[in-house]
Amino acid sequence: MIRAIQTSGPGGVEVLKSVSIELGAPDSGEVLLRQTAIGVNLIDVYHRTATQGQYAIEHPAVLGVEAAGVIEEIGPDVSDFAIGDRVAYCMVRGAYAQKRLISASQLIRLPEFVSDQQAAACMVKGITANYLLHRIHAVSHGETVLVHAAAGGVGQILCQWARHLGATVIGTVGSPAKIPAAQAAGCDHVLLHNQGDFAAEVRALTSGRGVDVVYDSIGKDTFEGSLDCLRPLGMMVCYGQASGAVPPLDISLLAAKGSVFLAKPTLATFVRDPDELRALADGVFQAVKAGAIRIDIGHRASLDDVAAVHTALESRKLAGATVLTP
Ligand SMILES: NC(=O)c1ccc[n+]([C@@H]2O[C@H](COP(=O)([O-])OP(=O)(O)OC[C@H]3O[C@@H](n4cnc5c(N)ncnc54)[C@H](OP(=O)(O)O)[C@@H]3O)[C@@H](O)[C@H]2O)c1
Repeated sequence: MIRAIQTSGPGGVEVLKSVSIELGAPDSGEVLLRQTAIGVNLIDVYHRTATQGQYAIEHPAVLGVEAAGVIEEIGPDVSDFAIGDRVAYCMVRGAYAQKRLISASQLIRLPEFVSDQQAAACMVKGITANYLLHRIHAVSHGETVLVHAAAGGVGQILCQWARHLGATVIGTVGSPAKIPAAQAAGCDHVLLHNQGDFAAEVRALTSGRGVDVVYDSIGKDTFEGSLDCLRPLGMMVCYGQASGAVPPLDISLLAAKGSVFLAKPTLATFVRDPDELRALADGVFQAVKAGAIRIDIGHRASLDDVAAVHTALESRKLAGATVLTP
């Protein structure tokens, strides 16, 4: 039997229950993974609370979509991994557990220079930053980028990496307490997105030109202001909705804002193909090795304390990545 945190239904943190689960032996193509570090993401909160829409899931469910660990058993037909291999995964629900069964095709082999804790902190967040900075808009030297929630898990990696690519980085945060974290992540300028007119401030910082790209994970509260930050033909990347979904819009707005582009990407598109997933993960590992990004763990907790972690994440008290130890 192993211990896991399972929901009793959709709802508040009180639905998170510690349960014992019998896992059985790995099936064909699967491995049994002993998890040593589990990443926490805002999507876990959406999975816990949603009753309809894209994040609604069936309950009871073991939440969590990323972790790192060591392979303990191998099922039939697994040839590319061995017992004892250190691996991680992302976007495979069921991470809040001591051990789990998982398809070998979803595993990413960890290099020596990335610890299990770092891997759990950077699979979802680092791979997201990688595809946003290289696939959705290829950030290049001399560009100016705006990153909302710059002190957050994805935000800190985005800022560091964009800076390493030679961009000027304007970050926004929701409270003065988060300004130092955004600065430490490489922001040249840090603004408060919920006080005053951040678009006017961005215009002033860019001598009226606007930024080349906006990475917006806040959604409803910042969407229109973000469009006003763009240069003509700039790229608006709406990759999250921490404040709520952006309401349906008339696409002629994009013309009015300067013939701008709009992207609404999701990590799920990029992790479907194991080769693409591993290439994106390798990009993150190489960025760590080159010193382009540092994987700082802002908060550590025991898996048993995940309810308190969810509460802190929802109330915007956390900065950087959070890792749970089973
Ligand atoms: N599309 C994708 O592929 C993809 C992949 C991974 C994550 N995401 C999205 O990326 C975002 C960042 O994820 P993360 O796990 O790293 O979380 P996070 O950024 O560490 O936490 C969310 C942050 O959003 C800001 N925020 C603004 N308004 C908020 C509100 N009403 N409620 C809660 N937070 C609010 C807060 O920062 P301030 O206090 O500074 O405002 C908060 O700390 C999330 O929106 C997530 O869904 C998207």
